[in-house]
Amino acid sequence: MYNDNPTLESLAKTIDESKQGSVYDRGHPESAEEGDRRRFYIESYGCQMNFSDSEIVASILHEVGYVPTREMEAADLILINTCSIREKAEETVRKRLQVFDRVKQQRPGTLVGVLGCMAERLKGKLLEEEKLVDLVVGPDAYRDLPKLVHTAQDGEEAINVFLSREETYADISPLRLDSNGVTAFISIMRGCDNMCSFCVVPFTRGRERSRNAFSIAAEAADLYQRGYREVTLLGQNVDSYKWEHPDTGELVSFAKLLEMVAQVHPDLRVRFSTSHPKDITDEVLYTMAAYENICKYIHLPVQSGNSRILERMNRTYDREWYMDKVRRIYEIMPDCAISSDIIAGFCSETEEEHRDTLRMVEWANYSMSYMFYYSERPGTLAARKYEDDVPLEVKKRRLQEIIRLQNQVSYRHNQKDIGKTFKVLIEGDSKRSDQAFRGRNSQNKMIVFPKAGGLKPGMYVQVRVTDATSATLMGQLTT
Ligand code: SAH
Ligand code: SF4
Ligand code: F3S
Repeated sequence: MYNDNPTLESLAKTIDESKQGSVYDRGHPESAEEGDRRRFYIESYGCQMNFSDSEIVASILHEVGYVPTREMEAADLILINTCSIREKAEETVRKRLQVFDRVKQQRPGTLVGVLGCMAERLKGKLLEEEKLVDLVVGPDAYRDLPKLVHTAQDGEEAINVFLSREETYADISPLRLDSNGVTAFISIMRGCDNMCSFCVVPFTRGRERSRNAFSIAAEAADLYQRGYREVTLLGQNVDSYKWEHPDTGELVSFAKLLEMVAQVHPDLRVRFSTSHPKDITDEVLYTMAAYENICKYIHLPVQSGNSRILERMNRTYDREWYMDKVRRIYEIMPDCAISSDIIAGFCSETEEEHRDTLRMVEWANYSMSYMFYYSERPGTLAARKYEDDVPLEVKKRRLQEIIRLQNQVSYRHNQKDIGKTFKVLIEGDSKRSDQAFRGRNSQNKMIVFPKAGGLKPGMYVQVRVTDATSATLMGQLTT
Protein backbone atom coordinates (compact mmCIF):
# COMPACT_ATOMS: atom_id res chain seq x y z
CA MET A 1 0.00 0.00 0.00
CA TYR A 2 2.60 2.58 1.03
CA ASN A 3 5.24 1.05 -1.16
CA ASP A 4 7.40 4.06 -1.75
CA ASN A 5 10.41 2.30 -0.37
CA PRO A 6 12.14 0.18 -3.01
CA THR A 7 14.95 -0.91 -0.68
CA LEU A 8 12.54 -2.69 1.63
CA GLU A 9 10.82 -4.47 -1.23
CA SER A 10 13.92 -5.69 -2.99
CA LEU A 11 15.72 -6.81 0.14
CA ALA A 12 12.66 -8.70 1.35
CA LYS A 13 12.64 -10.52 -1.97
CA THR A 14 16.29 -11.52 -1.87
CA ILE A 15 15.89 -12.93 1.59
CA ASP A 16 12.69 -14.78 0.72
CA GLU A 17 14.26 -16.40 -2.31
CA SER A 18 17.26 -17.57 -0.40
CA LYS A 19 15.44 -18.90 2.61
CA GLN A 20 13.84 -22.08 1.20
CA GLY A 21 11.56 -22.55 4.17
CA SER A 22 14.03 -21.44 6.81
CA VAL A 23 16.51 -18.62 7.00
CA TYR A 24 18.89 -20.88 8.89
CA ASP A 25 21.86 -22.68 7.47
CA ARG A 26 21.18 -26.38 6.91
CA GLY A 27 24.23 -27.48 8.86
CA HIS A 28 25.05 -30.11 6.21
CA PRO A 29 26.53 -28.24 3.27
CA GLU A 30 25.40 -29.68 -0.05
CA SER A 31 27.85 -27.78 -2.22
CA ALA A 32 31.35 -26.34 -1.95
CA GLU A 33 29.88 -22.89 -1.99
CA GLU A 34 27.63 -23.72 0.98
CA GLY A 35 30.57 -25.22 2.82
CA ASP A 36 32.51 -21.97 2.43
CA ARG A 37 29.80 -19.76 3.84
CA ARG A 38 30.49 -17.76 6.93
CA ARG A 39 28.00 -18.44 9.66
CA PHE A 40 26.75 -16.45 12.61
CA TYR A 41 24.92 -17.63 15.69
CA ILE A 42 22.86 -15.14 17.72
CA GLU A 43 21.18 -15.34 21.13
CA SER A 44 18.88 -12.60 22.38
CA TYR A 45 17.91 -11.56 25.90
CA GLY A 46 15.73 -8.80 27.31
CA CYS A 47 12.76 -7.05 25.79
CA GLN A 48 11.08 -7.47 22.43
CA MET A 49 13.09 -4.54 21.12
CA ASN A 50 16.20 -6.63 21.50
CA PHE A 51 14.69 -9.58 19.64
CA SER A 52 13.64 -7.18 16.93
CA ASP A 53 17.14 -5.66 16.82
CA SER A 54 18.66 -9.11 16.40
CA GLU A 55 16.65 -9.43 13.19
CA ILE A 56 18.15 -6.16 11.98
CA VAL A 57 21.62 -7.43 12.87
CA ALA A 58 20.86 -10.65 11.00
CA SER A 59 19.83 -8.67 7.95
CA ILE A 60 23.01 -6.55 8.03
CA LEU A 61 25.19 -9.66 8.27
CA HIS A 62 23.18 -11.47 5.61
CA GLU A 63 23.88 -8.59 3.23
CA VAL A 64 27.62 -9.21 3.55
CA GLY A 65 27.34 -12.95 3.03
CA TYR A 66 26.81 -14.40 6.49
CA VAL A 67 24.10 -17.00 7.07
CA PRO A 68 22.47 -17.70 10.44
CA THR A 69 23.03 -21.04 12.12
CA ARG A 70 21.32 -22.60 15.13
CA GLU A 71 24.51 -24.41 16.15
CA MET A 72 27.03 -22.26 17.96
CA GLU A 73 29.73 -24.89 17.34
CA ALA A 74 29.38 -24.29 13.60
CA ALA A 75 29.57 -20.50 13.81
CA ASP A 76 32.42 -18.21 12.79
CA LEU A 77 30.76 -15.42 14.71
CA ILE A 78 28.86 -15.87 17.99
CA LEU A 79 26.73 -12.90 19.02
CA ILE A 80 24.79 -12.23 22.19
CA ASN A 81 22.26 -9.41 22.29
CA THR A 82 22.16 -8.40 25.92
CA CYS A 83 19.93 -6.77 28.53
CA SER A 84 20.89 -4.66 31.55
CA ILE A 85 17.48 -4.06 33.06
CA ARG A 86 18.12 -6.08 36.24
CA GLU A 87 21.25 -7.52 37.75
CA LYS A 88 20.04 -11.06 37.01
CA ALA A 89 19.81 -10.30 33.30
CA GLU A 90 23.49 -9.38 33.25
CA GLU A 91 24.48 -12.45 35.28
CA THR A 92 22.81 -14.69 32.72
CA VAL A 93 24.85 -13.09 29.95
CA ARG A 94 28.12 -13.53 31.83
CA LYS A 95 27.35 -17.23 32.21
CA ARG A 96 26.67 -17.54 28.50
CA LEU A 97 30.00 -15.86 27.73
CA GLN A 98 31.73 -18.67 29.62
CA VAL A 99 29.94 -21.22 27.47
CA PHE A 100 30.91 -19.39 24.27
CA ASP A 101 34.49 -19.28 25.47
CA ARG A 102 34.59 -23.07 25.59
CA VAL A 103 33.43 -23.18 21.96
CA LYS A 104 36.16 -20.69 21.11
CA GLN A 105 38.81 -22.87 22.71
CA GLN A 106 37.77 -25.75 20.49
CA ARG A 107 37.45 -23.67 17.39
CA PRO A 108 40.16 -20.99 17.35
CA GLY A 109 39.31 -18.02 15.18
CA THR A 110 35.67 -17.96 16.29
CA LEU A 111 34.73 -14.41 17.25
CA VAL A 112 32.42 -13.54 20.15
CA GLY A 113 30.52 -10.27 20.12
CA VAL A 114 28.43 -8.57 22.80
CA LEU A 115 25.58 -6.45 21.42
CA GLY A 116 22.81 -4.42 22.99
CA CYS A 117 22.31 -2.81 26.36
CA MET A 118 25.17 -4.41 28.31
CA ALA A 119 27.57 -3.46 25.52
CA GLU A 120 26.36 0.11 25.85
CA ARG A 121 26.48 0.15 29.65
CA LEU A 122 29.87 -1.48 30.13
CA LYS A 123 31.56 -0.35 26.91
CA GLY A 124 35.30 -1.03 26.76
CA LYS A 125 35.21 -2.70 30.17
CA LEU A 126 33.81 -5.76 28.43
CA LEU A 127 36.93 -6.04 26.29
CA GLU A 128 39.28 -5.39 29.19
CA GLU A 129 37.72 -7.46 31.96
CA GLU A 130 36.35 -10.28 29.95
CA LYS A 131 39.07 -11.56 27.69
CA LEU A 132 36.26 -13.66 26.30
CA VAL A 133 34.88 -10.88 24.14
CA ASP A 134 36.18 -9.77 20.71
CA LEU A 135 33.53 -7.24 19.71
CA VAL A 136 31.40 -4.75 21.60
CA VAL A 137 28.58 -3.11 19.67
CA GLY A 138 25.93 -0.78 21.11
CA PRO A 139 22.30 -0.66 19.92
CA ASP A 140 22.82 2.24 17.50
CA ALA A 141 26.01 0.91 15.87
CA TYR A 142 24.82 -2.25 14.13
CA ARG A 143 25.50 -0.90 10.64
CA ASP A 144 29.13 -0.89 11.64
CA LEU A 145 29.16 -4.62 12.43
CA PRO A 146 30.71 -5.89 9.16
CA LYS A 147 33.59 -3.44 9.58
CA LEU A 148 34.02 -4.30 13.25
CA VAL A 149 34.18 -8.00 12.41
CA HIS A 150 37.13 -7.28 10.10
CA THR A 151 38.81 -5.22 12.81
CA ALA A 152 38.43 -8.08 15.28
CA GLN A 153 39.70 -10.58 12.72
CA ASP A 154 42.84 -8.43 12.48
CA GLY A 155 43.22 -8.81 16.23
CA GLU A 156 42.41 -5.18 16.98
CA GLU A 157 39.95 -3.70 19.46
CA ALA A 158 36.54 -3.74 17.86
CA ILE A 159 34.12 -1.47 19.64
CA ASN A 160 31.40 1.00 18.70
CA VAL A 161 29.03 2.20 21.38
CA PHE A 162 28.15 5.52 19.81
CA LEU A 163 24.54 6.51 20.60
CA SER A 164 22.81 8.24 17.75
CA ARG A 165 20.06 10.86 17.68
CA GLU A 166 18.90 9.74 14.25
CA GLU A 167 19.47 6.02 13.71
CA THR A 168 16.20 4.09 13.31
CA TYR A 169 17.34 1.41 10.81
CA ALA A 170 14.29 2.49 8.80
CA ASP A 171 15.62 1.17 5.48
CA ILE A 172 16.66 -2.25 6.81
CA SER A 173 14.23 -5.10 6.28
CA PRO A 174 14.70 -7.43 9.26
CA LEU A 175 15.63 -11.05 8.60
CA ARG A 176 12.87 -12.83 10.54
CA LEU A 177 14.80 -15.35 12.58
CA ASP A 178 12.49 -17.53 14.62
CA SER A 179 9.32 -16.59 12.89
CA ASN A 180 6.06 -18.53 13.02
CA GLY A 181 5.20 -16.83 9.70
CA VAL A 182 2.08 -15.29 11.25
CA THR A 183 3.13 -12.65 13.80
CA ALA A 184 6.00 -10.16 13.60
CA PHE A 185 7.42 -7.17 15.44
CA ILE A 186 8.01 -3.81 13.83
CA SER A 187 10.25 -1.38 15.63
CA ILE A 188 8.74 2.13 15.32
CA MET A 189 10.99 4.16 17.57
CA ARG A 190 14.18 3.88 19.56
CA GLY A 191 15.47 5.22 22.85
CA CYS A 192 13.61 6.75 25.76
CA ASP A 193 13.44 10.33 27.00
CA ASN A 194 11.74 9.48 30.26
CA MET A 195 13.83 9.29 33.33
CA CYS A 196 12.16 6.72 35.54
CA SER A 197 14.56 6.73 38.46
CA PHE A 198 14.97 2.92 38.59
CA CYS A 199 15.61 2.43 34.90
CA VAL A 200 18.79 1.92 32.92
CA VAL A 201 17.17 2.11 29.46
CA PRO A 202 17.70 5.85 28.82
CA PHE A 203 21.42 5.23 29.38
CA THR A 204 21.67 2.16 27.20
CA ARG A 205 19.35 3.20 24.40
CA GLY A 206 19.86 6.94 24.20
CA ARG A 207 17.46 9.64 23.09
CA GLU A 208 14.04 9.00 21.73
CA ARG A 209 13.62 9.10 17.94
CA SER A 210 10.79 7.99 15.68
CA ARG A 211 11.11 6.03 12.50
CA ASN A 212 9.76 7.15 9.12
CA ALA A 213 6.02 6.39 9.20
CA PHE A 214 5.93 5.30 5.57
CA SER A 215 8.71 2.77 6.05
CA ILE A 216 6.71 1.32 8.95
CA ALA A 217 3.53 1.03 6.87
CA ALA A 218 5.57 -0.43 3.98
CA GLU A 219 7.08 -3.05 6.27
CA ALA A 220 3.59 -3.96 7.51
CA ALA A 221 2.28 -4.21 3.93
CA ASP A 222 5.24 -6.37 2.93
CA LEU A 223 4.64 -8.69 5.89
CA TYR A 224 0.97 -8.96 4.98
CA GLN A 225 1.86 -9.94 1.42
CA ARG A 226 4.19 -12.62 2.76
CA GLY A 227 1.36 -14.20 4.75
CA TYR A 228 1.81 -12.52 8.13
CA ARG A 229 -1.44 -11.59 9.85
CA GLU A 230 -0.33 -9.68 12.93
CA VAL A 231 2.21 -6.95 13.63
CA THR A 232 3.25 -5.52 16.99
CA LEU A 233 4.55 -1.95 16.86
CA LEU A 234 7.43 -1.68 19.27
CA GLY A 235 8.98 1.10 21.29
CA GLN A 236 9.85 1.84 24.92
CA ASN A 237 7.14 4.45 24.90
CA VAL A 238 5.09 4.12 21.72
CA ASP A 239 2.64 6.87 22.63
CA SER A 240 5.30 9.51 22.26
CA TYR A 241 5.90 8.43 18.65
CA LYS A 242 6.12 11.56 16.50
CA TRP A 243 7.46 11.78 12.98
CA GLU A 244 7.63 14.81 10.75
CA HIS A 245 7.56 14.34 7.01
CA PRO A 246 10.77 16.00 5.77
CA ASP A 247 9.11 17.46 2.62
CA THR A 248 5.58 18.33 3.65
CA GLY A 249 6.17 18.99 7.34
CA GLU A 250 3.16 16.80 8.09
CA LEU A 251 3.24 15.45 11.65
CA VAL A 252 2.39 11.81 12.23
CA SER A 253 1.31 11.06 15.81
CA PHE A 254 1.07 7.57 17.26
CA ALA A 255 -2.71 7.61 16.74
CA LYS A 256 -2.18 8.49 13.07
CA LEU A 257 0.48 5.82 12.66
CA LEU A 258 -1.84 3.22 14.19
CA GLU A 259 -4.47 4.20 11.67
CA MET A 260 -2.00 3.98 8.76
CA VAL A 261 -0.96 0.47 9.78
CA ALA A 262 -4.55 -0.61 10.48
CA GLN A 263 -5.45 0.48 6.94
CA VAL A 264 -2.82 -1.77 5.35
CA HIS A 265 -5.42 -4.55 5.38
CA PRO A 266 -8.44 -5.35 7.57
CA ASP A 267 -7.04 -8.87 8.05
CA LEU A 268 -3.74 -7.60 9.44
CA ARG A 269 -4.01 -7.31 13.20
CA VAL A 270 -2.16 -4.47 14.90
CA ARG A 271 -0.79 -4.54 18.43
CA PHE A 272 1.63 -2.21 20.17
CA SER A 273 3.88 -2.09 23.21
CA THR A 274 4.70 -0.34 25.52
CA SER A 275 2.41 2.52 26.50
CA HIS A 276 3.46 4.95 29.18
CA PRO A 277 0.32 5.93 31.11
CA LYS A 278 1.26 9.60 30.95
CA ASP A 279 1.28 9.69 27.15
CA ILE A 280 -1.62 7.52 26.00
CA THR A 281 -4.18 9.93 24.56
CA ASP A 282 -7.93 9.76 23.92
CA GLU A 283 -7.08 10.01 20.23
CA VAL A 284 -5.21 6.70 20.48
CA LEU A 285 -8.11 5.11 22.37
CA TYR A 286 -10.68 6.31 19.82
CA THR A 287 -8.51 5.06 16.95
CA MET A 288 -8.30 1.66 18.65
CA ALA A 289 -12.07 1.60 19.07
CA ALA A 290 -12.64 2.60 15.43
CA TYR A 291 -10.67 -0.28 13.87
CA GLU A 292 -11.66 -3.88 14.46
CA ASN A 293 -8.13 -5.02 13.53
CA ILE A 294 -6.42 -2.90 16.21
CA CYS A 295 -6.35 -5.30 19.13
CA LYS A 296 -8.25 -4.40 22.27
CA TYR A 297 -5.33 -4.81 24.58
CA ILE A 298 -3.10 -2.26 26.29
CA HIS A 299 0.06 -2.93 28.25
CA LEU A 300 -0.01 -0.05 30.72
CA PRO A 301 2.73 -0.53 33.32
CA VAL A 302 1.80 0.97 36.68
CA GLN A 303 5.10 0.06 38.47
CA SER A 304 3.59 0.92 41.86
CA GLY A 305 0.09 1.62 43.16
CA ASN A 306 1.29 4.22 45.64
CA SER A 307 1.62 7.92 44.83
CA ARG A 308 4.66 8.61 47.02
CA ILE A 309 6.57 5.72 45.45
CA LEU A 310 5.46 6.77 41.96
CA GLU A 311 6.84 10.21 42.64
CA ARG A 312 10.17 8.74 43.75
CA MET A 313 10.13 6.57 40.65
CA ASN A 314 9.70 9.74 38.62
CA ARG A 315 6.81 8.22 36.69
CA THR A 316 5.11 11.68 36.48
CA TYR A 317 1.62 10.35 37.35
CA ASP A 318 0.06 9.44 40.64
CA ARG A 319 -2.34 6.71 41.70
CA GLU A 320 -5.48 8.76 40.95
CA TRP A 321 -4.21 9.90 37.56
CA TYR A 322 -3.44 6.30 36.59
CA MET A 323 -6.87 5.16 37.79
CA ASP A 324 -8.51 7.85 35.64
CA LYS A 325 -6.62 6.50 32.62
CA VAL A 326 -7.79 2.96 33.31
CA ARG A 327 -11.40 4.17 33.72
CA ARG A 328 -11.13 6.04 30.42
CA ILE A 329 -9.88 2.92 28.61
CA TYR A 330 -12.72 0.75 29.94
CA GLU A 331 -15.20 3.55 29.15
CA ILE A 332 -14.13 3.85 25.49
CA MET A 333 -13.49 0.12 25.02
CA PRO A 334 -15.41 -1.96 27.57
CA ASP A 335 -13.93 -5.17 26.16
CA CYS A 336 -10.29 -3.99 26.33
CA ALA A 337 -7.82 -6.02 28.40
CA ILE A 338 -5.12 -4.17 30.35
CA SER A 339 -1.85 -5.64 31.60
CA SER A 340 0.95 -4.18 33.70
CA ASP A 341 4.54 -4.18 34.90
CA ILE A 342 5.07 -3.99 38.64
CA ILE A 343 8.15 -3.45 40.80
CA ALA A 344 8.09 -4.70 44.40
CA GLY A 345 10.23 -3.19 47.14
CA PHE A 346 11.45 0.03 45.57
CA CYS A 347 13.59 2.24 47.85
CA SER A 348 11.82 3.05 51.13
CA GLU A 349 8.55 1.31 50.22
CA THR A 350 6.50 0.55 53.36
CA GLU A 351 4.08 -2.33 53.93
CA GLU A 352 1.12 0.01 53.56
CA GLU A 353 2.52 1.39 50.28
CA HIS A 354 3.02 -2.16 49.06
CA ARG A 355 -0.64 -2.88 49.88
CA ASP A 356 -1.59 0.03 47.60
CA THR A 357 0.05 -1.92 44.77
CA LEU A 358 -1.95 -5.04 45.72
CA ARG A 359 -5.13 -2.99 45.75
CA MET A 360 -4.29 -1.61 42.32
CA VAL A 361 -3.86 -5.10 40.83
CA GLU A 362 -7.32 -5.98 42.11
CA TRP A 363 -8.94 -2.69 41.11
CA ALA A 364 -7.46 -2.38 37.61
CA ASN A 365 -8.40 -6.02 36.93
CA TYR A 366 -5.20 -6.69 34.95
CA SER A 367 -5.46 -9.66 32.63
CA MET A 368 -1.79 -10.34 33.41
CA SER A 369 1.36 -8.61 34.69
CA TYR A 370 5.13 -8.85 34.51
CA MET A 371 6.32 -8.61 38.09
CA PHE A 372 9.81 -7.98 39.46
CA TYR A 373 11.52 -7.02 42.66
CA TYR A 374 13.62 -3.87 42.55
CA SER A 375 17.18 -4.32 41.37
CA GLU A 376 19.43 -1.29 41.75
CA ARG A 377 21.20 -0.31 38.53
CA PRO A 378 24.46 1.64 38.66
CA GLY A 379 24.23 5.18 37.34
CA THR A 380 20.45 5.51 37.52
CA LEU A 381 18.76 8.36 39.39
CA ALA A 382 17.57 6.00 42.14
CA ALA A 383 21.05 4.55 42.64
CA ARG A 384 22.43 8.04 43.10
CA LYS A 385 19.63 9.53 45.22
CA TYR A 386 18.01 6.78 47.27
CA GLU A 387 19.11 3.98 49.47
CA ASP A 388 18.20 0.48 48.32
CA ASP A 389 16.90 -0.20 51.82
CA VAL A 390 14.17 -2.81 51.50
CA PRO A 391 15.80 -6.12 52.53
CA LEU A 392 15.95 -8.78 49.83
CA GLU A 393 13.69 -11.21 51.75
CA VAL A 394 11.09 -8.48 52.10
CA LYS A 395 11.28 -7.64 48.40
CA LYS A 396 10.88 -11.29 47.53
CA ARG A 397 7.95 -11.80 49.90
CA ARG A 398 6.17 -8.73 48.55
CA LEU A 399 6.76 -9.92 45.00
CA GLN A 400 5.27 -13.31 45.89
CA GLU A 401 2.19 -11.60 47.31
CA ILE A 402 1.76 -9.62 44.12
CA ILE A 403 2.23 -12.70 41.94
CA ARG A 404 -0.26 -14.72 43.98
CA LEU A 405 -2.87 -11.98 43.75
CA GLN A 406 -2.28 -11.39 40.03
CA ASN A 407 -2.76 -15.12 39.41
CA GLN A 408 -6.14 -14.98 41.16
CA VAL A 409 -7.14 -11.86 39.23
CA SER A 410 -6.04 -13.45 35.92
CA TYR A 411 -7.96 -16.62 36.78
CA ARG A 412 -11.12 -14.63 37.48
CA HIS A 413 -10.58 -12.54 34.32
CA ASN A 414 -10.31 -15.73 32.25
CA GLN A 415 -13.23 -17.52 33.94
CA LYS A 416 -15.44 -14.63 32.82
CA ASP A 417 -14.64 -15.55 29.21
CA ILE A 418 -16.20 -19.01 29.51
CA GLY A 419 -19.19 -19.19 27.18
CA LYS A 420 -17.99 -16.27 25.03
CA THR A 421 -16.94 -16.67 21.39
CA PHE A 422 -13.79 -14.94 20.12
CA LYS A 423 -12.16 -14.36 16.78
CA VAL A 424 -8.81 -16.14 17.05
CA LEU A 425 -5.76 -15.89 14.81
CA ILE A 426 -4.14 -19.35 14.58
CA GLU A 427 -0.41 -19.11 15.39
CA GLY A 428 0.57 -22.79 15.36
CA ASP A 429 0.34 -26.06 17.25
CA SER A 430 -0.48 -26.02 20.93
CA LYS A 431 2.66 -26.55 23.03
CA ARG A 432 1.14 -29.67 24.61
CA SER A 433 -0.39 -31.44 21.62
CA ASP A 434 -0.11 -31.47 17.85
CA GLN A 435 -3.81 -32.31 17.76
CA ALA A 436 -4.64 -28.80 18.94
CA PHE A 437 -3.97 -25.30 17.64
CA ARG A 438 -3.16 -22.23 19.63
CA GLY A 439 -3.88 -18.64 18.82
CA ARG A 440 -4.83 -15.41 20.49
CA ASN A 441 -7.92 -13.29 20.67
CA SER A 442 -7.95 -9.53 20.35
CA GLN A 443 -7.39 -9.20 24.13
CA ASN A 444 -4.08 -11.06 23.74
CA LYS A 445 -5.27 -14.18 25.54
CA MET A 446 -3.92 -17.50 24.36
CA ILE A 447 -6.68 -19.94 23.35
CA VAL A 448 -6.11 -23.65 22.71
CA PHE A 449 -8.66 -25.66 20.69
CA PRO A 450 -8.82 -29.00 18.82
CA LYS A 451 -7.73 -28.92 15.17
CA ALA A 452 -10.12 -29.34 12.27
CA GLY A 453 -9.46 -30.13 8.61
CA GLY A 454 -8.48 -27.33 6.27
CA LEU A 455 -7.27 -24.99 8.98
CA LYS A 456 -3.72 -23.70 9.19
CA PRO A 457 -1.67 -21.02 10.95
CA GLY A 458 -2.48 -17.52 9.72
CA MET A 459 -6.24 -18.20 9.45
CA TYR A 460 -8.91 -16.58 11.57
CA VAL A 461 -11.46 -18.80 13.31
CA GLN A 462 -14.31 -18.36 15.79
CA VAL A 463 -13.70 -20.20 19.05
CA ARG A 464 -16.12 -20.60 21.94
CA VAL A 465 -14.39 -20.74 25.33
CA THR A 466 -15.30 -23.80 27.39
CA ASP A 467 -12.69 -23.73 30.16
CA ALA A 468 -9.91 -21.54 31.55
CA THR A 469 -6.86 -21.51 33.81
CA SER A 470 -5.09 -18.35 35.00
CA ALA A 471 -2.84 -18.49 31.90
CA THR A 472 -4.85 -20.03 29.05
CA LEU A 473 -8.35 -20.35 27.63
CA MET A 474 -9.57 -23.65 26.17
CA GLY A 475 -12.29 -23.76 23.55
CA GLN A 476 -14.08 -25.34 20.60
CA LEU A 477 -14.44 -24.11 17.04
CA THR A 478 -17.83 -22.74 16.13
CA THR A 479 -19.02 -22.43 12.54
N1 SAH B 1 9.47 1.18 28.60
C1 SAH B 1 8.71 0.30 29.35
C2 SAH B 1 9.48 -0.64 30.23
C3 SAH B 1 10.78 -1.15 29.88
S1 SAH B 1 11.60 -2.11 31.07
C4 SAH B 1 7.81 1.11 30.24
O1 SAH B 1 8.12 2.21 30.59
O2 SAH B 1 6.81 0.58 30.62
C5 SAH B 1 10.43 -3.34 31.50
C6 SAH B 1 10.06 -3.36 32.94
O3 SAH B 1 11.17 -3.75 33.72
C7 SAH B 1 9.64 -2.04 33.53
O4 SAH B 1 8.33 -1.71 33.22
C8 SAH B 1 9.84 -2.29 35.00
O5 SAH B 1 8.70 -2.85 35.59
C9 SAH B 1 10.98 -3.29 35.04
N2 SAH B 1 12.21 -2.68 35.54
C10 SAH B 1 12.90 -1.68 34.98
N3 SAH B 1 13.98 -1.36 35.74
C11 SAH B 1 13.95 -2.19 36.81
C12 SAH B 1 14.78 -2.35 37.97
N4 SAH B 1 15.83 -1.57 38.16
N5 SAH B 1 14.44 -3.32 38.85
C13 SAH B 1 13.37 -4.09 38.66
N6 SAH B 1 12.55 -3.98 37.60
C14 SAH B 1 12.84 -3.04 36.68
FE1 SF4 C 1 12.61 2.92 31.50
FE2 SF4 C 1 10.72 4.61 32.17
FE3 SF4 C 1 11.80 4.70 29.74
FE4 SF4 C 1 10.21 2.69 30.42
S1 SF4 C 1 9.59 4.85 30.25
S2 SF4 C 1 12.17 2.56 29.36
S3 SF4 C 1 10.70 2.39 32.56
S4 SF4 C 1 12.83 5.16 31.66
FE1 F3S D 1 16.85 -4.82 28.58
FE2 F3S D 1 17.75 -2.99 27.01
FE3 F3S D 1 15.35 -3.95 26.62
S1 F3S D 1 18.05 -3.07 29.17
S2 F3S D 1 14.70 -4.51 28.68
S3 F3S D 1 17.21 -5.06 26.44
S4 F3S D 1 16.03 -1.88 26.24
